[in-house]
Amino acid sequence: MKPFRRRSTGSSLMLALLLCIQQSQAITLDLQNTDSIKSAAKIVANDMVSYYTGYRPGDVPGNLPAPYYWWEAGAMFGALIDYWYFTGDDSYNAITTQAMLHQVGPDKDFMPPNQTKTEGNDDQSFWGMAALSAAENNFPNPPQDEPQWLALAQAVFNTQAARWDTTSCAGGLKWQIFSFNGGYNYKNTISNGCFFNMGSRLAVYTKNQTYADWADRMWDWCSAIGLRDDQYFFYDGSDDLLNCTKLDHLQWTYNAGTFLVGAANMYNYTNGSPVWESRLNGIISGINKIFLKNNIIYEQACEPVGTCNIDQRSFKAYLARWIAAAIVRAPFTYDRLKPILETSAQAAAASCTGGVNGTSCGLRWTTGSFDGSTGVGEQMSALEVIQSNLITVSAGPVTEGSGGTSKGNPSAGTTSDIGPGDLHAQPVTTADRVGAAILTVLICLVVMGGAWWIMV
Ligand SMILES: *[C@@H]1O[C@H](CO)[C@@H](O)[C@H](O)[C@H]1NC(C)=O
Ligand SMILES: *[C@@H]1O[C@H](CO)[C@@H](O)[C@H](O)[C@H]1NC(C)=O
Ligand SMILES: *[C@@H]1O[C@H](CO)[C@@H](O)[C@H](O)[C@H]1NC(C)=O
Ligand SMILES: *[C@@H]1O[C@H](CO)[C@@H](O)[C@H](O)[C@H]1NC(C)=O
Ligand SMILES: *[C@@H]1O[C@H](CO)[C@@H](O)[C@H](O)[C@H]1NC(C)=O
Repeated sequence: MKPFRRRSTGSSLMLALLLCIQQSQAITLDLQNTDSIKSAAKIVANDMVSYYTGYRPGDVPGNLPAPYYWWEAGAMFGALIDYWYFTGDDSYNAITTQAMLHQVGPDKDFMPPNQTKTEGNDDQSFWGMAALSAAENNFPNPPQDEPQWLALAQAVFNTQAARWDTTSCAGGLKWQIFSFNGGYNYKNTISNGCFFNMGSRLAVYTKNQTYADWADRMWDWCSAIGLRDDQYFFYDGSDDLLNCTKLDHLQWTYNAGTFLVGAANMYNYTNGSPVWESRLNGIISGINKIFLKNNIIYEQACEPVGTCNIDQRSFKAYLARWIAAAIVRAPFTYDRLKPILETSAQAAAASCTGGVNGTSCGLRWTTGSFDGSTGVGEQMSALEVIQSNLITVSAGPVTEGSGGTSKGNPSAGTTSDIGPGDLHAQPVTTADRVGAAILTVLICLVVMGGAWWIMV
């Protein structure tokens, strides 16, 4: 519904007041009303998808146009899989399946050659996690002769398990997959946290203990290195040339979020173990201390100073997504977590008064209005936090033993020619090095927001 936005000129006080109210409610959101949440999500999703052109003839399915990186497209399709699951609106299912399948790469593990020069473990994970969400949500399966959602998630997990690196810091995943890419010597929390996220969810989905063992190992490693401290704060990462003795202390919403949902799945997998219950409570307390203002999620490292880059503008989407998924796997967290989704959704909807239709969402929900910032990240964040409020009425996720229909393959991703031993042997041309150096600078600025340099 297009809101009434005519400007008042010399009209009565009453009319001015009415217009004021209209202006601040461009997207109506009544959280007590399922249809209201669904129609708000529909408007926000439509605006998000308007940035995507990959389905058009001659365009590349799965890619967002510049300045958006490949990983964010994977994240966006994850959001659309959630969107279908929460709302039942299948408008975007076809473009989602098309994009996901186009990007699987020759080894069916989301490592398409076009992305080799920039792909990190975290980038691969955002596509893998979208596939895992598709399995958990019983998103329509691809044709039988195409790779299947669960097998794709397992492939991503297996390729990363093989990259567990004991040459420094006593373990963990490096940020980058290939040694010729800048950032290869950084062990970042989001790469490691997404591996934990996938391991714990695969454990719940398949009941295979191996995944849970890896998730435990990852949790313990992050804790030992200090990427997670005793306040349950999650820091950005650490330099393996210094054997992880120094940390970059920036905190981002998605790092806390990925550990939150992983811990909730481990809690569920262990039938409610007190160890994971206490860790979950700790993570929630950490989130409360750092990422909430008036119970509204905000990206404290960049929003107040106005420095959020393209990537960072999407991070709140993942915290919201994973708060919802954590509540479902660990229902005891409902009372502490659901109010965050409610106040944040209301604030996010109030920010959606920009753009050509007067419904584009802004970045800073805490301002109570549109702040002029628009993009895929802004839309995705608003979409996830709004639709997440439907957890109480949605069917609930499935597992292999309870209605899940996606076909798995426990050894997917283990036959690839590019194993950990081959990474260093990758031939590198001078052009590659120059390209990689330029990309390094760009990526460091974009992904780390400059933090990389502070640390080194
Ligand atoms: C604006 O609204 C029109 C008509 O509903 C729609 O086709 C278009 O995609 C919308 N644009 C955005 C950016 O939401
Ligand atoms: C790789 O890039 C080429 C050239 O732009 C394009 O045709 C192809 O579809 C891309 N493949 C993937 C998986 O993105
Ligand atoms: C590197 O750090 C790990 C983990 O803290 C430690 O076990 C190992 O001894 C360290 N290695 C060196 C060479 O300092
Ligand atoms: C595990 O998750 C299911 C829903 O997926 C939920 O019904 C169950 O109560 C959870 N188990 C525990 C111990 O909370
Ligand atoms: C469990 O997962 C591991 C690791 O992927 C795999 O090697 C093993 O075959 C799986 N076991 C079963 C019973 O599927």
